Amino acid sequence: MCGIIGYIGKGLAQESLIDGLRRLEYRGYDSAGVAFHEGNEFCMSRETGRVQNLADSVQKNSSQSSLGIAHTRWATHGAVTVPNTHPHVSHDGKFVMVHNGVIENFGALKHFLSGKGIEFNSETDSEVLCNLIAYNYSELLNEKDRLIDAVRIALAQCRGAYGIAVLCLDYSETMIGARRGSPLVVGLGDDANFIASDASAFVGRAKEAVFLNDGELAILKGTDFRITTLEGQEAKAVAHPVDQISEEVEIGDFDSFMEKEIYEQPTALKNTLRGRFGDDGTTAKLGGLEGHEEELRNLDRIIFVACGTARHACMVGEYLIERLARVPVEVEHASEFRYRNSPKAEKSLVIAVSQSGETLDTLEAVREAKTKGLLTLGITNVVGSSLARETDGGVYQRVGPEIGVASTKAFSSQVCLCAMLGLALGRMRDLSPMDGQGIVEALNDLPDLVSRVLQQGEQIRELALKYSKAEHLLFMGRQSLYPVALEGALKLKEISYAHAEGYPAAELKHGPIALINPECPSIFIVEGSELSAKTIANMQEVKARQGPVLAIAPEGVEIPKEAADDVFRLPVAHEVVRPILANLPLQLFAYHFARLRGLDVDKPRNLAKSVTVE
Ligand code: M6R
Repeated sequence: MCGIIGYIGKGLAQESLIDGLRRLEYRGYDSAGVAFHEGNEFCMSRETGRVQNLADSVQKNSSQSSLGIAHTRWATHGAVTVPNTHPHVSHDGKFVMVHNGVIENFGALKHFLSGKGIEFNSETDSEVLCNLIAYNYSELLNEKDRLIDAVRIALAQCRGAYGIAVLCLDYSETMIGARRGSPLVVGLGDDANFIASDASAFVGRAKEAVFLNDGELAILKGTDFRITTLEGQEAKAVAHPVDQISEEVEIGDFDSFMEKEIYEQPTALKNTLRGRFGDDGTTAKLGGLEGHEEELRNLDRIIFVACGTARHACMVGEYLIERLARVPVEVEHASEFRYRNSPKAEKSLVIAVSQSGETLDTLEAVREAKTKGLLTLGITNVVGSSLARETDGGVYQRVGPEIGVASTKAFSSQVCLCAMLGLALGRMRDLSPMDGQGIVEALNDLPDLVSRVLQQGEQIRELALKYSKAEHLLFMGRQSLYPVALEGALKLKEISYAHAEGYPAAELKHGPIALINPECPSIFIVEGSELSAKTIANMQEVKARQGPVLAIAPEGVEIPKEAADDVFRLPVAHEVVRPILANLPLQLFAYHFARLRGLDVDKPRNLAKSVTVE
């Protein structure tokens, strides 16, 4: 969590830093701050709340500095206050630092530093690290590489995760960055270089990005830079172009990024699908899996690891892959997988799914799987992300940057890729060419079907208005629509703060039915298969107890009048694409429900887009 950016160059740092913070705000928006190297002092501004508050404050006092660091915070240690806002300055005023991550042994380090007479102004672990660097610097008086060594030694004394940018008053032309566990990327421009949590922070200002690996240090000096390991060995810097993402992060005419990203789904899915089918039209061809055909053919288990919405996409994948490829699939909360002593099976494949590719729980699950010698694949949206770099192979979602904290288009493309994976694995096993062809056609038709559903957005707005006073809502579905029910409930609670739960429809009578009353609406997703009758019976059980019912059902499935108060219709579609279609009205429902409450859907309270702490 938290976003960091640093600027070193020939121009003025201020505009690039504030602009960079705005682009990083999806990583946290509790408070924001900036520090400029002004020759003989650091000039700092720190404000609680959004980056705009900081922008207003620095505008009054424009800095002429060409060296600075900035931070947007998602609070971990310490409340949302100005003293806890980054950058943090060392007790002697020599160092400023911004930090993304958690220093787990900060208590012991603080105790040590307090014993040396150092006093602290905040409750943060980050201020401790800043002071540890300053302390080591003071101890290395005559060393040649005093600054770099002070940073290295301090980092070696830390346990936990960090992405940092550091400035020292004695060095007016140097900025240092380092990472372990939290992402960090160096941006290379014509007149300036950058350090940031991700490349979107310097879009339009840097031409190339060099992604740091864990345990690496970036030393930016004037217009030069080099990468070393924490132990001091030179490391290879691989530069990737950054300009291709420049205009995609603009909001355009939309009210919010979430709304824009919902309506982008037809295009996003076309990009996910493009060029990924075999020439005979019966299977999927995923380039990132090439070289692993033999292992994929002989798999005896797939374990998905993911968090939040990405995990719901995997749960849909579980139903689809088991059905198409007849391979046993498990879906784990990434945070649980890491600490579970699950028995090792030689032919297991671990697939990690993460839009950002930086979710620490997911990355740690991958690292654990690799420790156990398992093959790991990644499904991620962010090119060059830690997940993309740390897995043995994988597939990019290609849906463009997802800025809204609520994940929407990423879910659809993750489910789509799970279906394609199921198809590819199925065709390596028992799935017939005819069945394969039917699925290829269904996937190719998907973007148009998505457009058709989204065109009914106004009907969903009216339904959201009708139910907008509800504080408790239930979402129900069966089989691959059960995870869609979970996802509908997650979306609603994260952006509207109403309480919502998702259940398999048949579970209702095992407990949740006690919640039913006229104030608790139930949203049922009806399958359009032989199971529909059973779901409709569950709807009637709710109606019999005066619970309002909204049904989301495919055209042609008859919903008796007495079973539902409202019905939203979906187009008839192949079972592999139904979960994606059924989720669209739920995304729109959550969006309108929250907007009708006057809430900021892109930045819901207490959340951040990318969760880079455990
Ligand atoms: O970047 P990731 O896909 O790994 O993120 C995982 C979750 O944090 C994320 O899906 C979260 O649940 C969303 N805010 C839900 O909309």
